[in-house]
Amino acid sequence: PKSINIAVDGYSSTGKSTLAKDLAAALGYRYVDSGAMYRGVTLYALKNGLIKNGRIAENLADYLEDMHLEFIFNRERGASDLHLNGEDVEEEIRELEVAKYVSDVASISEVRKFLVKAQQKMAGKKEVVMDGRDIGTVVMPDAELKIFVTARQAVRTSRRHGELIRRGKDVTKQEVEANLMQRDLIDSTREDSPLMQAEDARLLDNSELSLKEQLEIGLNWAKETL
Ligand code: C5P
Repeated sequence: PKSINIAVDGYSSTGKSTLAKDLAAALGYRYVDSGAMYRGVTLYALKNGLIKNGRIAENLADYLEDMHLEFIFNRERGASDLHLNGEDVEEEIRELEVAKYVSDVASISEVRKFLVKAQQKMAGKKEVVMDGRDIGTVVMPDAELKIFVTARQAVRTSRRHGELIRRGKDVTKQEVEANLMQRDLIDSTREDSPLMQAEDARLLDNSELSLKEQLEIGLNWAKETL
């Protein structure tokens, strides 16, 4: 079978990354979490005083060259961890504090240009499943399979809230829902590469689907293109 790239896009907490990870594992492809990279830039900004009193420094882009982002496979987890300047930040980038600012950071054109370039380099050799917001539209417009994932708001809130609680975070459902709605609004209304379904993307509403069922659908679509 030929090698393909798969783009998975959609709103926050729709289970995109789970689908992308499962597809990659089933096909023996590499999974790339593009959102982790935007979170990494945001974490750097928070740690280096580039976000103060809720405001993002205007010259944030001047620091991009100082941010070395790398995915390193973690045997224990069976997945890749994001490393920022040599430090494993996989846990930290999932904090709500990072989620609060990440969409504003991701609206900065220079940030997008910098990360899209790195993402395109990773996709160059094919056999990549990448998830994000602009993968089918901007990062991999030639991907052989594009999936746009949605789920009902209440389902998404419960999923993300459950995930944070399992990780021992002390957050309320209201906080989680407010963050999801705010990120979706910023992500889909920003000027530079807003979140939208690519014309040739297949729509997958997984509100009522189990992980196994959504993987089956994705795999069938992948097989059609192989
Ligand atoms: O996927 P995740 O929720 O971790 O992404 C965090 C944020 O990063 C998104 O809400 C969005 O603002 C930004 N993002 C983006 N483009 C991508 C991936 C993520 O703008 N390709």
